[in-house]
Amino acid sequence: MESKVKIKEIVKQNYGTIALSKNSCCAAGICCAPADIAIKIGYSKDEIANLDTANLGLGCGNPNALASLKEGDVVLDLGSGAGIDCFLAAKKVGPHGKVIGIDMTHEMIALAKENAEKLQVRNVEFILGDIEHLPVDDNSVDVVISNCVINLAPDKGQVFKEAYRVLKSGGRMAVSDIVLKGTLPLQIKKSIDAYVSCIAGAIQKAKYIDLLYKAGFKNVEIVKEYSYASIFESNNWNLDGNALIDSEQYKDVVNSISLIARK
Ligand SMILES: C[S@@+](CC[C@H](N)C(=O)[O-])C[C@H]1O[C@@H](n2cnc3c(N)ncnc32)[C@H](O)[C@@H]1O
Repeated sequence: MESKVKIKEIVKQNYGTIALSKNSCCAAGICCAPADIAIKIGYSKDEIANLDTANLGLGCGNPNALASLKEGDVVLDLGSGAGIDCFLAAKKVGPHGKVIGIDMTHEMIALAKENAEKLQVRNVEFILGDIEHLPVDDNSVDVVISNCVINLAPDKGQVFKEAYRVLKSGGRMAVSDIVLKGTLPLQIKKSIDAYVSCIAGAIQKAKYIDLLYKAGFKNVEIVKEYSYASIFESNNWNLDGNALIDSEQYKDVVNSISLIARK
């Protein structure tokens, strides 16, 4: 596998292309209709109605559904993409609250800002930045959310430390992400397409939870878990332009989890 810096560049390039096309699911060969995917991963029809290009079908859960947001909360979305979860959070926190979306891909930030204008959402701000080094003050956020992003970060422990740093005491993090519960076939593990598609960068579930506790979080609670392969219609996946991979090869190993962790 490539160096950490190279991996981030590849991730940026791929998500930049997705943002410019304004229409994709995960980046490699697995494709679908974003609205169908959104329903399968836990959004309601009402939530995704009228979201325009904020829903690109890139998530693996609905972290807002777990976050118990209140009016006036300050919310930070790690890897906000085209803005879907920021716009849903913005409705819940209302005009006295605020939502900040962080993404390292310039084109995603541009698309999210364009969507905020179109949807006329005023209590949201999108900032270019790396979730391993958040451009956000200590103890300034009520709730951190993130949807299918931390698996893409080479240093997940550092992401959790940063999330913990910016949360106020008593704050919480609601995350949907991909984890492993076994060994990935080597062909998938070393594939760039599988990395960008949120699979090859995923770590073991137990390790993921351990890193959260090591960062300082308490009471980590898994609220939902399902096989990630189950959300895609096609069972075949073209990796790095090579052989088709049947989802049978990874369906029992790759899971989507949604969890809450507290500071
Ligand atoms: C799979 S998409 C999910 C987007 C969004 N959360 C959603 O559910 O639609 C991953 C996003 O995370 C961003 N990303 C990946 N690694 C990142 C990092 N280290 N720092 C900031 N953003 C990152 C990518 O640019 C991309 O927009």
